[in-house]
Amino acid sequence: MSSEDVYYYSMKLLAIETSCDECSAAVLDGPVLKSVIISSQLIHNQFGGVVPELASRAHVELIVPVVADALKKAAESKNDMESIAVTFGPGLAGSLIVGLSFAKSFAAALGLPLIGLNHMEGHLYSSFLEKPEPRFPFISLIVSGGHTMLILVKKPYEHILLGQTRDDAAGEAFDKVAKLLDLGYPGGPIIDKLAKGGNPQAFEFPRAFLDDHSFDFSFSGIKTSVLYLLRKLGYTSDLKNSNLVNDICASFQSAVVDVLVEKTFAAAKEFDVKSISVAGGVASNSELRRVFTDRGSSEGITIHFPRPLFCTDNAAMIGIAAYFKIQKYGIVNDLFLKPVPNLALNF
Ligand code: KG4
Ligand code: ZN
Repeated sequence: MSSEDVYYYSMKLLAIETSCDECSAAVLDGPVLKSVIISSQLIHNQFGGVVPELASRAHVELIVPVVADALKKAAESKNDMESIAVTFGPGLAGSLIVGLSFAKSFAAALGLPLIGLNHMEGHLYSSFLEKPEPRFPFISLIVSGGHTMLILVKKPYEHILLGQTRDDAAGEAFDKVAKLLDLGYPGGPIIDKLAKGGNPQAFEFPRAFLDDHSFDFSFSGIKTSVLYLLRKLGYTSDLKNSNLVNDICASFQSAVVDVLVEKTFAAAKEFDVKSISVAGGVASNSELRRVFTDRGSSEGITIHFPRPLFCTDNAAMIGIAAYFKIQKYGIVNDLFLKPVPNLALNF
């Protein structure tokens, strides 16, 4: 680890993440990732969104083989594990219960300490799965299906929330616009792909910067103006494969990216930090990565992205967050840890 605020220690840890529709397990030794298995539940795609009851049932079937695969890939035995980390919120109640029940049983059977993690802390520290790691202090932008947050991370587990979305999350806006265009679910990767063939200046969508001093976001206005445009154009799904759709995707994506990039760089300037980490599902967006990287190199700020696999939900990020949390607080949870579907990030 590069920063003086972090010391290295070795501890074999099994991490579990089941807060939504990804069933994932990872094995780490200290901060070193030894394996990760992510099983995405494709069953939800046909319903245009995650169906909670189906998600928890799928987790019940997947959790044992996913953990077995993660241990096998790491060439470790369960008996060699020294601790277990698990997401206990925020997320879907039934999905959280499956991961938490598994983790508690595993801990009880093997006599291991248990540590509960906030899912958002996973996204917050996910850039530490890559080299070079962010240096403290850094600005973290978390853009996922459920959250859009701008955070100043001063030291490990010392962070301040600078702003968040007042309505739709960035990923939610991608998913809703894809739904308006009848493109399928999840919408982010589809829009990302179609936007490559479109003109980002074809349509002017609003950029909601709110007032000058706010680090909050708002994405519902962009989504509504896409809806009005489609009504005006008399859009039907017959037009799905046209250049028009590519242009709408490129123009919408460009509006979202502009706001995310402007606010994040404004925060870096205000707090005089030289590292930015961008994480969460939307951080795998190719245009977002390109614009952040270009702007970072022109302003002398290093931009850190996890690889796309670690942008969407996964247990590796839960494991690396546990590494930092244990340094700060030790292992404080016990087998009475309960799922908290609306768990807030502590600031
Ligand atoms: O972090 P994540 O896996 O789950 C949550 O915790 O919400 O994020 C999922 C979100 C979805 O809204 C999805 O459409 C979006 O991330 N997403 C993308 C891309 N890949 C996933 N959005 C834009 N461009 C992408 N390439
Ligand atoms: Zn997430």
